[in-house]
Amino acid sequence: MDNHIKIFDTTLRDGEQSPGYSMNQQEKLQLALQLEKLGVDVIEAGFPIASDGDYETVKEIGKIIKKSSVAALCRTRREDLERAVSAVQHAAKPRIHTFIATSDIHLKYKLQQTRDEVLESAVKAVEYARSHCDDVEFSAEDASRSDPEYLIEIFTAVIEAGATTINVPDTVGYGLPWEYGELIKTLHEGIPNIDQAIISVHCHNDLGLAVANSLMGIQNGARQIECTVNGIGERAGNASLEEVVMALRTRKNSMNYTTSVNTKEIFPSSQLLAQITGKGVQPNKAIVGENAFAHEAGIHQHGVLKNPLTYEIMTPESVGLTSNRIVIGKHSGRFALCKKLEELGFYLNKEDLNTIYTRVTQLADKKKVVEDSDLINIMANSKFTTSTQQTASAVGNR
Ligand code: KIV
Ligand code: ZN
Repeated sequence: MDNHIKIFDTTLRDGEQSPGYSMNQQEKLQLALQLEKLGVDVIEAGFPIASDGDYETVKEIGKIIKKSSVAALCRTRREDLERAVSAVQHAAKPRIHTFIATSDIHLKYKLQQTRDEVLESAVKAVEYARSHCDDVEFSAEDASRSDPEYLIEIFTAVIEAGATTINVPDTVGYGLPWEYGELIKTLHEGIPNIDQAIISVHCHNDLGLAVANSLMGIQNGARQIECTVNGIGERAGNASLEEVVMALRTRKNSMNYTTSVNTKEIFPSSQLLAQITGKGVQPNKAIVGENAFAHEAGIHQHGVLKNPLTYEIMTPESVGLTSNRIVIGKHSGRFALCKKLEELGFYLNKEDLNTIYTRVTQLADKKKVVEDSDLINIMANSKFTTSTQQTASAVGNR
């Protein structure tokens, strides 16, 4: 089986659906170009039936994106499908992504349809989409709470109708990694025509398991992961693109897969999204949070300064940062302080370093983080042995 994993980015669709993340057309175009630079295989550009604005934006994205596929989402209704087909008409690589719920709970309360009716709508939608587009994805919404036997039946039928990707969403983020992995395995082994389509995973993060579930999905036969930059998306979000990609890259020794993502574009993509939406990233967010490559504890600082391998499992450069960050705070030691001061141009002897270290820890007790400007201030206002003082005041006065 091919070990290449397609990265399907849904930042502009599922991501944008979350409160506070809506973007205008110009912002979406800017982000789409960055996603293409990032190297994602598919950009889900929007839900054209949702609004005229969404329709126009998908259309414009289709015109400017050349390397990635551009997908438009639609329900299985004819009107939705027509709108999606029309929206991607100019795309170099168009994809129609149609979906309908398959869990009994959704059938009973939301759709008020029988399993047979849902199956019929799904097949008709895929047939229609396929008559206009070679690349058709079908999603069984709430798949993780659906009867696996029914999923086998509906996926078999839509592949027969022309679906080239079948998506298995954990729509409500309910699945546990081993359960979700088992579901993908059951589908992979149970769908007789699965050789004609690829299995996709689409996991929400309500229990913080979206990335783990996605990885279990690919371990069991899926070859496409749906995810978003910074993990944004409905409620607690979708699987985070940067976490999925860096997990695959960093743990290649355990999961031998490849992606087309240029990981150096991860941090710029994250920053662009944060800047456009005005929503920052939590500091401890894996890969792209401001503390992801920062070290404050003395023991860690000492190790990282001697060799980053001691406390870093990937390099900051690999995700597009220029370096790690040594933060001076109350947990820092003399070694890191000395290096930091040297970066600022101060070369202290042991005695002077001890003096400064005491002043810095006193400040750190009050201030949480000691900035470079604080260090310069301390240096400028301290008494040193003659040679150091010259260096300190000379640099401090610059
Ligand atoms: O979470 C979900 O089920 C979805 C589908 C529309 C793919 O976003
Ligand atoms: Zn979703």
